[in-house]
Amino acid sequence: MKDEVSQAVRSNHYQHIILAIETSCDETAVAVIADGKHILSNVVSSQIDVHAQYGGVVPEIASRKHVETMTIIIEEAVAKSGYQLSDMTAIAVTQGPGLVGALLVGIIAAKSLALALQIPLIGTHHIAGHIYANELVSTIVYPSMALVVSGGHTELVYMRERGSFEIIGKTRDDAVGEAYDKVARALKLPYPGGPHIDKLAQEASLAITLPRAWLEEGSYDFSFSGLKSAVLSAINIANMKQQPLDTSAIARGFQESVIEVLTTKAARAVQQYGVKQLLLSGGVAANQGLRQQLAISCAQIGVELLVPPLSLCTDNAAMIGAAAQLKLERKQFSSLEIQAEAGFSLEEW
Ligand code: KG4
Ligand code: ZN
Repeated sequence: MKDEVSQAVRSNHYQHIILAIETSCDETAVAVIADGKHILSNVVSSQIDVHAQYGGVVPEIASRKHVETMTIIIEEAVAKSGYQLSDMTAIAVTQGPGLVGALLVGIIAAKSLALALQIPLIGTHHIAGHIYANELVSTIVYPSMALVVSGGHTELVYMRERGSFEIIGKTRDDAVGEAYDKVARALKLPYPGGPHIDKLAQEASLAITLPRAWLEEGSYDFSFSGLKSAVLSAINIANMKQQPLDTSAIARGFQESVIEVLTTKAARAVQQYGVKQLLLSGGVAANQGLRQQLAISCAQIGVELLVPPLSLCTDNAAMIGAAAQLKLERKQFSSLEIQAEAGFSLEEW
């Protein structure tokens, strides 16, 4: 580390300052994180408005938008942090999973910075980031269990100790956020549909009855495609009969099914594995209904529930900085040859 770096870092009692970059999907995000816990800046530039016109993320447009915004967002995040690029200890970047073209933009920016500043590069797993977003607001106690619910993932992850991930259950088809977005699209709600369905479900006085996919006894896996098909069929039947569509009742029925399955399986996993905490993470962790029901279940079984604030639930780079801190402490640095890993494994991250 250079002399002036040590000087600046020491004056604030911080040991490490990481500049983190996240471009796995439709958010260009850069954050500056001190010691894996303190957010010095967290800038997120969302492309949602652009993709909303197409009803979903268009990968080619996502990559192009990342290229256009990357440098500006890096400059903004550094300026807001009160530090300078020369103060950084390491550069962290989401290596995967995600859209390859989108990931590449962040990875190239991160490699360039690491090379120019002569500091380590840390390739980071996107889901490890979602999980460690909790570390920015609370202290994770091990063993712990994470329920990861995002647009691309639905997983129950057992964490025996800091930085160890064992996936004990995952979706066999659609991710929960994906199911939300597809159902919302069928209901002609804007993209991304999760928040719209959540709001409608909260306000609805009635709910249609929809199936719950429990799968085999004891399984921690999930399946949401049957539920999605049941919603689509309810919409088709109403259309065929020329009946008015009760969008709120469908939203509430869908949300009740999702929440019951997620909450029941998470509570069972928490008890079977004897963990002290349940960590909720990923974009769908913003869901009010899910947060409320998990809070009730966790209180009943006497387990602490950690949920990040909304801004740290959806994609951001602060969470990547928090996860990268683990690798920094272990000196697990990446080579400048790393590639984008669309299917990056969490267990071997
Ligand atoms: O984690 P995230 O920002 O991106 C991925 O890594 O996928 O998650 C985005 C997903 C979208 O599917 C969006 O509809 C969903 O999170 N989402 C919600 C809510 N807010 C965002 N789903 C349900 N209820 C919400 N309030
Ligand atoms: Zn995500």
